[in-house]
Amino acid sequence: MSTVSPDVTMFFDEDSNTFSYVVKDPASDACAVVDSVMDIDYAAGRLSYDHADAIIAHIEAQGLKLEWLIETHVHADHLSAAPYIQERLGGKLGIGRQIVVVQDTFGKVFNEGTEFQRDGSQFDALFEDGDTFTIGGMEVRVIHTPGHTPACLTYVVGDAAFVGDTLFMPDAGSARADFPGGDAGDLYDSIQKVLALPDDTRLYMCHDYGAGGAREVQYLTTVAEQKAQNIHVGEGKTREDFIRFRTERDAQLDMPRLIIPSLQVNMRGGQLPPADKDGRQFFKVPLNTL
Ligand SMILES: [Fe+2]
Repeated sequence: MSTVSPDVTMFFDEDSNTFSYVVKDPASDACAVVDSVMDIDYAAGRLSYDHADAIIAHIEAQGLKLEWLIETHVHADHLSAAPYIQERLGGKLGIGRQIVVVQDTFGKVFNEGTEFQRDGSQFDALFEDGDTFTIGGMEVRVIHTPGHTPACLTYVVGDAAFVGDTLFMPDAGSARADFPGGDAGDLYDSIQKVLALPDDTRLYMCHDYGAGGAREVQYLTTVAEQKAQNIHVGEGKTREDFIRFRTERDAQLDMPRLIIPSLQVNMRGGQLPPADKDGRQFFKVPLNTL
């Protein structure tokens, strides 16, 4: 039996350096969207949907049927547009079951009231390690890859894997593991699960920063390239080396620019905070907390 090779179209959000993907079954018109982005001018408190509209236009132009909107994790650096796309094109919204841990943590950080459900009910599906689902005739296999956050998943679709922030490009290494619920040791172990996939597996990144401007942004690598070249976990690096490096590095990192609005939207499955009695919506800024 040959491995299916999904058609993958990448969409790049320059403001947050995020890659979103449309993943299509080559044997049907079925597709999924991975990690979409809502545009925000945070200084102005203004939301817009150019990035999501580009994905919608692509799906409509190709005559595709959107079956799933899947999130690799609760992102802290951009806002999800999944509900906006779902409203227009249908499909089911899925994320990792450990979202409930993230909702509990950030429900407290943002002092949300009881109307904020912390049971993952904002999503249509909560995936666990080993779960499978389908996009058309393609099977998607879920690998729980915690460490960056407790709810991070890697989605394996035939010869492709969407790793979220479990790995960056080989010359950028790995993502931080110091958010609440993050753990450098867990991240190392999760990376080993991804590197255990076949060498020619296509690995699709969630972010790239172009080596600080030294090269073009890149979104695609392979297991073989990561094993040989990843600067944080490539050949010869031990778990202890990784934990020491990651912990020291994370202590020096600033909070992501959009973490405050991102978490308030993404922990709700991409919905905005509820309107006040006048119908207006606000983000909260918890002082001296993050
Ligand atoms: Fe992330």
